[in-house]
Amino acid sequence: MVAEHARAVGAPTRGTTNPNRLRRVDRWLTGTQPVLDALRGFPDPLVVDLGYGRSPVTTVELATRLRGVHAGVRVLGLELDAERVAAAARMASPPWLEFRRGGFELAGTRPALLRAFNVLRQYPEPDAARAWSTMLAGLAPGGLLIEGTCDEIGRRCSWVLLSAHGPQSFTVSCKPSELRRPSDVAERLPKSLIHRNVEGERVHAFLSELDSCWAHAATHRPFGPRARWVESVRLLAERGWPVHGDRRRWRLGELTVDWACVTPDW
Ligand SMILES: C[S@@+](CC[C@H](N)C(=O)[O-])C[C@H]1O[C@@H](n2cnc3c(N)ncnc32)[C@H](O)[C@@H]1O
Repeated sequence: MVAEHARAVGAPTRGTTNPNRLRRVDRWLTGTQPVLDALRGFPDPLVVDLGYGRSPVTTVELATRLRGVHAGVRVLGLELDAERVAAAARMASPPWLEFRRGGFELAGTRPALLRAFNVLRQYPEPDAARAWSTMLAGLAPGGLLIEGTCDEIGRRCSWVLLSAHGPQSFTVSCKPSELRRPSDVAERLPKSLIHRNVEGERVHAFLSELDSCWAHAATHRPFGPRARWVESVRLLAERGWPVHGDRRRWRLGELTVDWACVTPDW
């Protein structure tokens, strides 16, 4: 599928992962039009899962889910850790699933979709910003990068969708029944935002407004946390925030807004 690449760029880590940890991300990918358009622009789009960790389980899940919306999808898992690559490569895999050693240079591939989840948080902020540029430069024309973070079991997640033009949207996805308030997700913000959740930064204003909507939506508490979340998102939209999607998505505990809502003061 790809040529071997001389130097894999980045620094390996412990590799914590879990089955189904990235289900919320995968569900969003398979239900979001710009992502589907990026995949359907190719008969056999290449999708790279960068930094799959000590087990390739989330890469296998990604491949299965994406092939449900585009039967031609090929998935390549890249890891810096050579032993993890050898272990994954020994698994019996279908021809549309492969594992190789590689880093931000993407092993010389040009994916239509690139997922890097729970990878950048270990890097200092300036290195993470450079990694975005390196990864974006490696995408196929019209390609997209999804980069984000979540907790160990995938109940609190957030991510950024980027194209060659830069960040496009920011998404929070969580299990509302486990929240005291929506800003609980702050501990799982992507590297580009986690240090910016302070007074005066947009992401802080955004999460504060969402908390305020959650407080107002307390009237929906008798209908359950999910209904309260949906009402919070509806209120946010009513207050003029560029909220994407509709109740169908919000009921999943999702909220996507334009990246402009959270852009850091770089
Ligand atoms: C915390 S694990 C995440 C595993 C999986 N993506 C998940 O979310 O469950 C991060 C993995 O990324 C790998 N990694 C770190 N930097 C990388 C890079 N530049 N390229 C490829 N893999 C990288 C680490 O070796 C580690 O195995």
